[in-house]
Amino acid sequence: MTVADLPKIELHLHHEGAAPPAFIRQLAHEKKVDLSGIFKPDGSYDFRDFAHFLSVYEAACAVLKTPEDFRRLTLAILEESAANGVVYSETFLSPDFCGGGDLHAWRDYLAAIQDAADEAEGKFEITLRGVVTCVRHFGPDKAKRSALCAAETAGDWITGFGMGGNEAMGQQADFKWAFDCAREAGLRLTTHAGEFGGPESVRDAVRALGVERVGHGVRAIEDLDLVHELADRGITLEVCPGSNVVLGLYPDFAAHPIARLREAGVKVTVSTDDPPFFHTTMRREYEMLAQAFGWDAEDFAALNDTALNAAFCDEETRARVR
Ligand code: ADE
Ligand code: ZN
Repeated sequence: MTVADLPKIELHLHHEGAAPPAFIRQLAHEKKVDLSGIFKPDGSYDFRDFAHFLSVYEAACAVLKTPEDFRRLTLAILEESAANGVVYSETFLSPDFCGGGDLHAWRDYLAAIQDAADEAEGKFEITLRGVVTCVRHFGPDKAKRSALCAAETAGDWITGFGMGGNEAMGQQADFKWAFDCAREAGLRLTTHAGEFGGPESVRDAVRALGVERVGHGVRAIEDLDLVHELADRGITLEVCPGSNVVLGLYPDFAAHPIARLREAGVKVTVSTDDPPFFHTTMRREYEMLAQAFGWDAEDFAALNDTALNAAFCDEETRARVR
């Protein structure tokens, strides 16, 4: 058995971003939508940089129209994750892509996704929880609608609220209303920061929005005071090394700051972000980290423990998965 065979906890996975290109092509074929512009000749997603990635992502989302599409997508994602050893996963679900922020529609999408998650739990032995996510470049008003959807469906299954999208748009604090609304509904909080934004974006996420986890957060390494603050506050980073390498933040795994953040006492975890876009899987992330930093089974067991402790699930679920 290698480290890549270990059971894995994944905290940072975008539901639509986990859609295999073949799945999106099949839906496009069924719906007679021409999406040929978003694929390379070898069938993989085609993008040049982060901004282009976001537009290809949204183009792919255009064929994910109905709750049934999301039911099928959820099964496909969980089968693939389970095949890579993932036993517990949290996915980012955006009301913007599931009914456009309308609460009644959102409930229908959610029912379909949960139905698929139940089926997958029985078939593939993987547990899924949902983190409702607003999209930063869609602006604060849409984020409020997403937060209201999140608040209305908060519970054992929708356990968190977060924000993805283009970090260059606005400030974290512009989304304070949405995060406060979600917090008041009992949801746990995370936001993307320190991916394409610098350390100040991570500081704002923690101080202005009061999140307990940060999506990526890796650029905190550029400010050692902030690194110590993250360690002291016990903030967990949802690190996605393969995503960062493909999007050009670091030239390769060996140059990635995950090991330095960990050595500085920051709680780091490992996820794939949008695996088919970044040609990765949880198994590959483990293999690349073992190769780059010499991490062994004990290191990965500790990493998984950190992830499970930071998971937005109840204690009963945590105990069952552990
Ligand atoms: N949405 C999907 N993937 C993302 C990423 N890596 N950063 C920000 N928003 C995203
Ligand atoms: Zn992400």
